[in-house]
Amino acid sequence: MKSFSSSTREIPQTGEIPRHIAIIMDGNGRWAKKRYLPRVAGHKQGVETVRRVTRACSERGVEYLTLFAFSSENWRRPAEEVSTLKQLFMAALEQEAERLHRNKVRLKIIGDIAPFGARVVELARRAQELTSANSSLTLTIAANYGGRWDLMQALAKLVRSGPLPENGFTEDQLAPYLALNYAPEPDLFIRTGGEQRISNFLLWQLAYTELYFTPTLWPDFDAGQLDAAIDWYRERERRFGRTSEQLEKAKQDSNGRRRIA
Ligand code: IPE
Ligand code: IPE
Ligand code: MG
Repeated sequence: MKSFSSSTREIPQTGEIPRHIAIIMDGNGRWAKKRYLPRVAGHKQGVETVRRVTRACSERGVEYLTLFAFSSENWRRPAEEVSTLKQLFMAALEQEAERLHRNKVRLKIIGDIAPFGARVVELARRAQELTSANSSLTLTIAANYGGRWDLMQALAKLVRSGPLPENGFTEDQLAPYLALNYAPEPDLFIRTGGEQRISNFLLWQLAYTELYFTPTLWPDFDAGQLDAAIDWYRERERRFGRTSEQLEKAKQDSNGRRRIA
C-alpha cells in the first residue's frame, strides 16, 4: 500500500488551509462542573461540538479531521464514566452514520475497540463500510487509542511480515502498519481545555505538526474558534529543519518562475 510522504524524509506540500487537523477534545468535565451538572452532561454537549466542528471542517475544505475521543489511559476513570462514554460512542455510531454518509464524510475508527464489546465493534464496522467510498472529509475517531499502542501494534505487524532485515527497518516499511496509514501527517493539532500536553495521542505523526492550545473547553469550541486556530496556523513558518533564509529564497525563486511562465 502507498502511504503518504513522511515529514522527516520529504518536505510536505503545505497550503493556506491545513489538510489534516487533529484535535484533543478536552474540558467536557470542567464545562459540566462549572454549571453544577454531572460530567456526562459535558460529554453530551461535547458530541454536539463534534457535529459542529465536522461541518465547519467540511465547509473549509479540510480533508482529514482526527478526533481523540477515548485514550488508552481513560480506562482509569470511574467505571460509571467509562460506561457513559461507551454508551455515547455507541449512540453516535448508530445515529450519525447516515447523516455522515449524506454529507459524503468517510468515517474511520482507530484504536483497539474490541474491549468496548461486540456491539460497538459491529456498529463501527457498519458505519465505516457505509461511508467507505465517500470522498469529502475523512473523519477519524480515535477510541481506546494511544500513540504507544499504535507504534507497538505496527511494530508487531512489521516484525511478523518477514525476516528482520540486516540494516534495520526503514520508516517506509513501518508506516503502512500505523493506524493512520490512510492520512497525511496532521498539519495542525488543537487541544482545547487549557492543558499543554499530548496525552499519548499521535506520537509518530505529530513530528512536524503545528501545536495550538486554547483554554476554551471543548463544549464551547465553535467554528469561530476553529477559524482562529487556522489563522494562527497560517502565520507559522513551517521550516521542517531548514532555515528561514532558505524558505525566503525558495519563495522568491518560485515567484520568479511564475512571472516568467
Ligand atoms: C475530554 O473531556 C473527554 C474525554 C477525555 C473522554 P474530559 O472528560 O477530560 O474533561 P476534563 O478534562 O475533566 O474537564
Ligand atoms: C486526553 O484527555 C484524551 C482525550 C481527550 C480522549 P485527558 O483528559 O484524558 O488527558 P489528561 O489525563 O488530562 O492528560
Ligand atoms: Mg481531560
